[in-house]
Amino acid sequence: AAEKTALKERIKRLLKEREAVLVAHYYVDGDLQDLAEETGGCVSDSLEMARFGRDHPAKTLVVAGVRFMGETAKILSPEKRILMPDLDATCSLDLGCPADEFSAFCDAHPDRTVVVYANTSAAVKARADWMVTSSIGLDIVAHLHAQGKKILWAPDKHLGSYIQKQTGADMLLWQGSCLVHDEFKGIELDLLKAEHPEARVLVHPESPANVVALADVVGSTTQLINAAQTMDATTFIVATDNGILHKMRAAAPGKHFIEAPTAGNSATCKSCAHCPWMAMNGLQNLADVLENGSNEIHVDPQVGKEAVRAIDRMLDFAA
Ligand code: 13P
Ligand code: SF4
Repeated sequence: AAEKTALKERIKRLLKEREAVLVAHYYVDGDLQDLAEETGGCVSDSLEMARFGRDHPAKTLVVAGVRFMGETAKILSPEKRILMPDLDATCSLDLGCPADEFSAFCDAHPDRTVVVYANTSAAVKARADWMVTSSIGLDIVAHLHAQGKKILWAPDKHLGSYIQKQTGADMLLWQGSCLVHDEFKGIELDLLKAEHPEARVLVHPESPANVVALADVVGSTTQLINAAQTMDATTFIVATDNGILHKMRAAAPGKHFIEAPTAGNSATCKSCAHCPWMAMNGLQNLADVLENGSNEIHVDPQVGKEAVRAIDRMLDFAA
């Protein structure tokens, strides 16, 4: 514990010395989330992380999350230095959508408006008309559908089919998935609901359709935390990465949170619903990158220029 406290103090000092700000996602270690908040940084969902990073005057941002979040920050602020605790922290959605294959898919369907999820590489975003996050994807597709546009959607098939059902839009889906959310199980969730009839069910839309179908609220990480805080219920079943429970418990003290069942879930399984790449962010490697200025994110400037259009469209829409 003393070692941890010393590391946290060192990080706080280095953030000041380096005039850097910490931007963290809700799935990373709770200590990093708390540090981000305490030091004037931010802890939030992908949309807010992007906006905060773009608007903050600091010349150095340290992004505690996964690679696409660091890349988005760099694309939006090419003049800033973006560091990450571990550059190998990727995402199964990003890995499952290689830019060359995706580009061929787009070429085969030139009549469609290309909408990609934030969880993609800079090169995939460069090929897109729009980038969206889970908090705003539905609204943007509804807007495009109202204009009569047909959509090519990538990479998350569950989020895509959820949006398709909600909006009625014509959507051609890439078949990617998140390895964490794909593991939530509808039948087991139904049984758990029966055990806790008073509980409300909060689901991230990267989950399979039979899990989403049981939700009281479907939304981004920020939207789920807000629901936990504001809904008139004391027990919640949560189908998303369990890193979110740190903030949920802090935001809604006295309320009770139960993890939704996954394939390997049991009372003793602590890491079933936790992203292995988010877990690569820790106090030690955060302190190290601040000390050494290592692990800087680079995006090819030309690719960045092409990718920024799709991201700016989303941010303008959200404004
Ligand atoms: P949010 O935008 O909802 O924070 O989601 C990001 C993500 O990676 C979910 O797995
Ligand atoms: Fe990607 Fe899933 Fe990890 Fe989010 S939780 S970063 S979608 S693998």
